[in-house]
Amino acid sequence: MALPVRKFDAVIVGAGGAGMRASLQLAEAGFRVAVLSKVFPTRSHTVAAQGGIGAALGNMGEDSWHWHMYDTVKGSDWLGDQDTIEFMCREAPRSVIELEHFGMPFDRNADGTVYQRPFGGHMQNFGAGPAVQRSCSAADRTGHAMLHTLYQRNVRANTHFFVEWMALDLIRDPSGQVVGVTAMEMETGEVYTFHARAVLFATGGAGRVFASSTNAYINTGDGLGMAARAGIPLEDMEFWQFHPTGVAGAGVLITEGVRGEGGYLLNKDGERFMERYAPNAKDLASRDVVSRAMATEIKEGRGCGDSADYVLLKLDHLGEELIESKLPGIREIARKFANVDPVRDPIPVVPTCHYMMGGIPTNYRGEVVATAGGGREAVVPGFYAAGECACASVHGANRLGTNSLTDLLVFGKASGDTTIRFLKENPTFKELPGDAADVTMERLSRLDARDSGESVYDVGNELRQVMQMHCGVFRFPDLLEQGVRRIKEVEERVARIAIGDKSKVFNTARVEALEVENLIEVAVASLVSAHARKESRGAHDRSDFPERDDENWIKHSLWLKEGSRLEYKAVHMTPLSAKTIEPKVRTY
Ligand code: FUM
Repeated sequence: MALPVRKFDAVIVGAGGAGMRASLQLAEAGFRVAVLSKVFPTRSHTVAAQGGIGAALGNMGEDSWHWHMYDTVKGSDWLGDQDTIEFMCREAPRSVIELEHFGMPFDRNADGTVYQRPFGGHMQNFGAGPAVQRSCSAADRTGHAMLHTLYQRNVRANTHFFVEWMALDLIRDPSGQVVGVTAMEMETGEVYTFHARAVLFATGGAGRVFASSTNAYINTGDGLGMAARAGIPLEDMEFWQFHPTGVAGAGVLITEGVRGEGGYLLNKDGERFMERYAPNAKDLASRDVVSRAMATEIKEGRGCGDSADYVLLKLDHLGEELIESKLPGIREIARKFANVDPVRDPIPVVPTCHYMMGGIPTNYRGEVVATAGGGREAVVPGFYAAGECACASVHGANRLGTNSLTDLLVFGKASGDTTIRFLKENPTFKELPGDAADVTMERLSRLDARDSGESVYDVGNELRQVMQMHCGVFRFPDLLEQGVRRIKEVEERVARIAIGDKSKVFNTARVEALEVENLIEVAVASLVSAHARKESRGAHDRSDFPERDDENWIKHSLWLKEGSRLEYKAVHMTPLSAKTIEPKVRTY
């Protein structure tokens, strides 16, 4: 069936930091760019980023991109690609200054330079310490400020925003080149084809695959679902970051910036327990280390509250003035979601799913790379990805706090630049294949035709429970095995989902059903990859293989939907210009 067609030089899916940084690059270069977003751009999930952007500006003391690179490689537990990590850390200061010149309202030092705070895992002197002040922040609302800055610049540059549009499927021609997407206007339920010379995914994360998450409800892995259905592998999906400080019971993020400003964690005995787990960095160790320490305290009975199921984040000693100026959003969140005023009382917190280290495989130019047998990487023409949906891979097995905003700024711009080069070299539109809309129409008519079946709500809940129970902070062989089995059962149920309401106008049941079809790809990829990786590295901690195994496992997992099978490819150990940072034991 032929759908109405809209034509643009480039279509970008997602209007968070990465999408809007890329679209700005393209629109300012004079290309016709469409940005599709399920929500108004300034409500994209980047808005929730609190603590800052990692960049070695050196405004608060000595720093260098080499130190930032070292910390990022170490933070990744040596699974990050060292060429992409060098690129990001080298470009970061330029990206931050550029954003400052776009009008970003950063906090300032007395001399007018951008204020920077300490953050977990960021150290001086190639990890030797002490902590470095590297996170460029706008109070605890850095993502919010960034989105508004980028949105305004995009409006000025004539970017075409399609607000409350959900991209449904990727369109590839018979040669494999990406030539567009199908998308649904949520207000009317009408479906269109967006025919483009290039497509860039910046669809964000998929944290809603877990029952307890700091992520917005929109984070349903739509880009990953579309990529997987179109035959693109998903990389390193076993690596999920649990942020140490989600509000207990609510999951809302309490920025690591609290610990950067001097807050710390306590168990039920009032003990500052991080001193035992990370004697040097203490509460500013990397997130995987802090989350595991908290989970261990709770598991061993030193949690707080009636059910002993959380620990406390103390910051009252910072004083009301500092809390009001540097952490005002945290005070508001603590009051609303935990019913405590942190000026007086500690905040109850638990590790909560926060970030997906894996995603759509890309190189440091933002080109999507599939594998062409034997682990060889081959660029997918016309297809780009940036931000959390992409696996560049700068974060490897564990991301450092602040590096997500750095990632989306640096790779948003880089992927925009690469797309521009491609558009100049490929000035004409490739034809849309005759079956361009088939996958989408088949998915939609299945939902429309079925009168009875599984409920979206029940299946979505089961999916999230399976991930929560079988793919959490600690991983056990029997639970992983059962998890793979259970998620395959959920996958069968997803195929039987029925919606009662078939109306077209703002039919959120239809949107949720389509989102669950994306989440299931993420969940299956995660459990299958986690079950197969027989070592502990970064955020992947297996009770039966407690050590990192560099001999066999310095390699990226690639999950392919067809046959739910895994391939592997080598980690890029050679940086662009710096020396390789050789693996060693990771302590903080
Ligand atoms: O803790 C935070 O403010 C989160 C930052 C991040 O995920 O980078």
